[in-house]
Amino acid sequence: EKGGYDHFMIKEIFEQPRSIADSMRGRLRAADMHLQLGGLNNYLEKLACAERIILVGCGTSWHAGLVAEYLFEELARINVEVEYASEFRYRNPVIRENDMVIAISQSGETADTLAAIELAKSKGATIFGVCNVVGSSIARATHAGAYTHAGPEIGVASTKAFTAQVTVLTLIAIAVARRKNTISEETYRQLLGALEAIPGKVEKVFEHASRIKEIAYIFTYARNFIYLGRGFNFPVALEGALKLKEISYIHAEGYPAAEMKHGPIALIDEDMPVVFLATRDSSYEKIVSNIQEVKARRGRVIAIVTEGDTLIPEMVDFVIEVPEVHEILTPLVSVIPLQLLSYYIAVMRGRNVDQPRNLAKSVTVE
Ligand code: F6R
Repeated sequence: EKGGYDHFMIKEIFEQPRSIADSMRGRLRAADMHLQLGGLNNYLEKLACAERIILVGCGTSWHAGLVAEYLFEELARINVEVEYASEFRYRNPVIRENDMVIAISQSGETADTLAAIELAKSKGATIFGVCNVVGSSIARATHAGAYTHAGPEIGVASTKAFTAQVTVLTLIAIAVARRKNTISEETYRQLLGALEAIPGKVEKVFEHASRIKEIAYIFTYARNFIYLGRGFNFPVALEGALKLKEISYIHAEGYPAAEMKHGPIALIDEDMPVVFLATRDSSYEKIVSNIQEVKARRGRVIAIVTEGDTLIPEMVDFVIEVPEVHEILTPLVSVIPLQLLSYYIAVMRGRNVDQPRNLAKSVTVE
């Protein structure tokens, strides 16, 4: 059942080229510029006209929501809020009829997310679901939705469900942007092609698995970790830190890199590993100076860089390369080495990777 792997988590990590392709199957064909999600047909107009999109979820699904915030704002110029379902439901939030709520959940059973949906529904909002489990409570409670089609996720730490959520949310954002005419035909064409190439790019990250394992070995007994990223890589920093906490029980924090100097920089010394998401994108120069700030305080830096980068490898202790992708698709490749790093560290520490202590696959109580 684990297909020859030691754990479900590593099987699911390595499945991602296929699961990402599955979440696009029948929906995207770049060759003839085809992009269509069945569940979106009757709601595309509504999304295009929405005054605001509110994304709700918990944990990793909330991180996928954060990526979607960048996507919808950048591509479709729609005002977006990303909410922890648990806070949203108890806050008496302002919800209007032309708000569109997108609820994100792998299991489709998360109690707080379900309650947030019921609340938004009672205020007249339209709810769109992005779920993995077919026929789940959340899938049934929403007005419409698009399944992620990642296949069953057994490992408690979410991996392939996250990349499938991000893939589907990207498809939706591109479809809405096309309808609104906020992206050119040329950009549309480019993005569809770039998305289709993602499974192959994820496959290429796996070529560095043994290097990542070596790095994991060096840091197995670290007591803390900091993850930093900017822009599309900021949610990835949060997700990387969450993965490490969940399965290795190492304390880890994710931050937007620029926030470091507002506090966390006080933590940096030679015992503090800092994982930088430093791919070559619009915040590259800014990230380079953030790396300098950490190195000046003798922090130990592991940088996720774009293939062929020659500057950052000179500055840091360890690098892991990922292939170059269109900037808005960055999370789909940059999260992969972080999943592997946390997996290898947890295994080396002898943790129960698939069933970490205190955690359940679906959180059906609030
Ligand atoms: C992280 C993890 C949790 C879930 C969260 C939401 O690896 O597994 O943080 O992401 O409990 O679960 P779903 O997506 O099922 O609503």
